[in-house]
Amino acid sequence: MKFAELEKERWQTSSVRRGRGTIIDESARIYHAGNTVIGENSYIGPLVYMRGQIKIGNDCWVGPMAQLNGEFGLEVGNNVGLGNGVIILTSEHDKTKSSGKITLAPLKSGKVVIKSNVIVGCGACIIPGVTIEEGATIGMGAVVTKNVPKNETWVGNPARKIK
Ligand SMILES: CC(C)(COP(=O)(O)OP(=O)(O)OC[C@H]1O[C@@H](n2cnc3c(N)ncnc32)[C@H](O)[C@@H]1OP(=O)(O)O)[C@@H](O)C(=O)NCCC(=O)NCCS
Repeated sequence: MKFAELEKERWQTSSVRRGRGTIIDESARIYHAGNTVIGENSYIGPLVYMRGQIKIGNDCWVGPMAQLNGEFGLEVGNNVGLGNGVIILTSEHDKTKSSGKITLAPLKSGKVVIKSNVIVGCGACIIPGVTIEEGATIGMGAVVTKNVPKNETWVGNPARKIK
């Protein structure tokens, strides 16, 4: 995508499909809002940035300044907490297909799935293609590069199991 094309995109929180009781802070920026679906009683905090194909369940909390890049799909279950400043990516430039300008190289992708009852600590990052299974906890500042099994706690960069 050429950068000029991005100018045509608009953020439009009002067209997000959301369930009863869900609050989206007025400073949140949601691009491709028509592709965003949020369940009931969830909260999207100040300055959250969301883009792409994003589905968030019920009773979720998305902390201030979280960045949810869901171009290739992001699914979040119920009762999930995404801490302040969490970054989730579902795409990255494919350097092997670059004709010199890496920023214009095609994107390779990987959907991210976060199942129910998961906590992702503040400032943690999740790379494309990762699934975090139900009940897992991700420590503050972790960089999650692999799938995280059910009920485990992972911390660090790259994230590893501690519990
Ligand atoms: C990951 C976390 C849940 C672990 O809590 P805990 O189970 O009580 O773990 P402990 O404090 O007993 O720590 C266990 C070990 O992991 C280390 N550790 C804990 N959190 C860590 C982190 N975020 N990054 C790196 N190491 C961490 C501890 O230093 C300790 O190491 P040691 O055994 O060598 O002494 C917690 O530290 C954390 O990061 N919580 C996130 C809080 C947050 O961001 N909340 C908002 C979400 S909505």
